[in-house]
Amino acid sequence: MTQTAASQSRRLAAVQAPVIPIVGRWTAETPGTISLGQGVVSYQPPREAIEAARRFGDHLSDHRYGPVEGLPTLVSALESKLARENHITVRPGSRVLVTAGGNQAFMNAVLAITDPDDEIVLLVPYYFNHEMAIVMAGARAVAAETMSDYQIDLDAVRRAISPRTRAVVTVSPNNPTGAVYPRAALQAVNELCRERGIFHIHDEAYEYFTYGGVEHFSPGSLPGAAAHTISLFSLSKAYGMASWRVGYMVVPDVLFEAVNKIQDTILICPPAASQHAALAALQVGREYARSFVGGLNVTRRAILEALSASDVPCDVPTPEGAFYYLVRVHSSLDAMTVSERLIREHRVATIPGSAFADPAPCSVRISYGALDSDSVIEGLRRLVGGLRALAED
Ligand SMILES: Cc1ncc(COP(=O)(O)O)c(C=O)c1O
Repeated sequence: MTQTAASQSRRLAAVQAPVIPIVGRWTAETPGTISLGQGVVSYQPPREAIEAARRFGDHLSDHRYGPVEGLPTLVSALESKLARENHITVRPGSRVLVTAGGNQAFMNAVLAITDPDDEIVLLVPYYFNHEMAIVMAGARAVAAETMSDYQIDLDAVRRAISPRTRAVVTVSPNNPTGAVYPRAALQAVNELCRERGIFHIHDEAYEYFTYGGVEHFSPGSLPGAAAHTISLFSLSKAYGMASWRVGYMVVPDVLFEAVNKIQDTILICPPAASQHAALAALQVGREYARSFVGGLNVTRRAILEALSASDVPCDVPTPEGAFYYLVRVHSSLDAMTVSERLIREHRVATIPGSAFADPAPCSVRISYGALDSDSVIEGLRRLVGGLRALAED
């Protein structure tokens, strides 16, 4: 491609267009569409968080730049939370930084560890913003396929690692598949990364969303993991705080200075009002999120039951976490077409699996985090009807 003064960089031209706005446009053009699209929860932040934000601003210091790594009170509350819930001991081996969401935490990690043309291994299907961040940084995303139930295939991860690899990324509970990786699988990836002298980046944005007694595990808690493990977290889903832009990351001590430089340049400091709200949310604690998980589990089971009926042309590995299903659709059409026609002809929005680089020929992601029970029933009726109609094309 030739470049003129007025064109975007080749690096950015290579980044895939985000799919959510495209699906959003189809949805806006089709009034009455029920969205099983964007991954959001139905609930608001805890009252205490909103009150903390309302109290914010009385002191002159509230309006000045704060520490690059986040307010000391919040950093210290996060360190306690990580020790108590994730069994991750921060300091001396690692450090916590507050970020503007989990996405920024991932970008910080990629910028801190890659040079141009370095590689990062992503398990497919992957969270598309991870791939976009890697390409944006001038590095390369290398795909490692997962098993048919979306669990980790360690041999595929091994095969994807080259001398240029800087990290392997895992996401559990997973977006887009809902898979929860057991301790042994995460331990195996973490050990492999240590053996190869590369980082293990683990995204735990959905840590509180597991079902049927399945346990969440943080590989950053493993003995000897601190020096090569980057753990990413978010308050967006856990506390219904997506717009507040608060996440955090645990980085090996050796990367703290690099991430500080990045954060100082891009963010200067995390937004103070959001940090005060986040601190109040953390004081309410994980029970807040867990109180919604029972309801989500009912929805999850209803979807599984509807899609498992023998005359629905799809198959669905049963997820144990997050609030997603990645449904393999039996159709000769591609995923973008199926997703668009489900909206335009059946008024139900899903995200095409191709956006997550799903190797399956046709799949769609269903998100059920934000649905009330009436919308679930009607959304499912439309989805099942739509899948049946499209299969006949
Ligand atoms: C796996 C994963 N990580 C990170 C994020 C982004 O979270 P945040 O809002 O904290 O940037 C999402 C959002 O959907 C996600 O699915």
